Amino acid sequence: MLSSALLTAARSSRARGLITAVPATRKVVERFVAGEVTEDGVRAVEELVGSGLHVTLDRLGEDTLDRAAAEATRDGYLALIETLADRGLASGNEVSVKLSACGQALGADGEKIARENARAIAEAAKAAGMLMTLDMEDHTTIDSTLGILRELREDFPWLGAVLQSALYRTEDDCRALAHEGSRIRLVKGAYKEPDTVAHQAKSEVDKAYVRCLRILMAGRGRPMVGSHDLRMIRIAESLARENGRSADSYEFQMLYGIRAFEQRRLAESGATVRVYVPYGDDWYGYFMRRLAERPANLAFFARSLLSR
Ligand code: FDA
Repeated sequence: MLSSALLTAARSSRARGLITAVPATRKVVERFVAGEVTEDGVRAVEELVGSGLHVTLDRLGEDTLDRAAAEATRDGYLALIETLADRGLASGNEVSVKLSACGQALGADGEKIARENARAIAEAAKAAGMLMTLDMEDHTTIDSTLGILRELREDFPWLGAVLQSALYRTEDDCRALAHEGSRIRLVKGAYKEPDTVAHQAKSEVDKAYVRCLRILMAGRGRPMVGSHDLRMIRIAESLARENGRSADSYEFQMLYGIRAFEQRRLAESGATVRVYVPYGDDWYGYFMRRLAERPANLAFFARSLLSR
């Protein structure tokens, strides 16, 4: 119930106005977001890379309804990639891109605009020796996102995508995308979805996650296990062993600020671990989804408001 209300609020401009206006919110946001400007993201990358982790950077923003904002997203990524390359932090690291921030919802031309903005980012990533993954948003965008993935992979075969186990369709998508060269980040799904398209019970989402993991681990692509759930991590390790996978043929991914100890423990055990580092001033939607994932975060948020 609570989680569903938070996910509804994540898309409400009224709730956005109220929550972002409270100064104490910032303190809680800092736990999940590296900072508001590129330099903050780069500083977080330096620290994580220094401790043996890999990163994927998200320049925060989503649901853009204006062409100039979509171009600003593209330019922000281009500036980020250039800064990382100048500091020797680009190689082997990644950017995560939301197509809705690149203009996907801009009417009839939206898909084309998003694809061309994403293409420009992928070209810069390639030149800098970086990777790129397309984040997955709500279910109405999936066909479009996978279509853009297919087209861009013709020029950037290392381009990755995200699949969400909450959705009924995802096992089929995993089968279609378990091929050689494919990079798929499997997550449980962070959006509020109707029961016509998605499992509603957490236990069903978890079981589906394991079924999807089985498909990806048995496939020929690179599974990217995007979860903080220790059970899923153990199952992924055991499926990797069962399928004779070497440690460098798959990776674990976790969000900045969540289970940092486990991130380091896995990396020290020889696994590849990539931390998803969000930065930027448009943190509202991202922050609300993190609150919705865990009621304890909301209690922490409420305490920080009351302690002012
Ligand atoms: P689960 O929700 O069961 O949590 C397991 C445990 O992890 C919890 O008990 C808690 O200890 C810890 N935990 C989880 N979330 C927490 C939080 N917010 N705060 C504190 N602790 C927390 N989704 C999507 O729809 N599209 C996308 O593109 C992405 N991209 C993405 C990238 C990466 C690298 C990750 C790790 C996740 C995403 N997600 C995502 C989010 C994903 O769908 C999902 O909502 C979260 O990862 C939470 O699910 P878990 O698998 O961690 O399990």
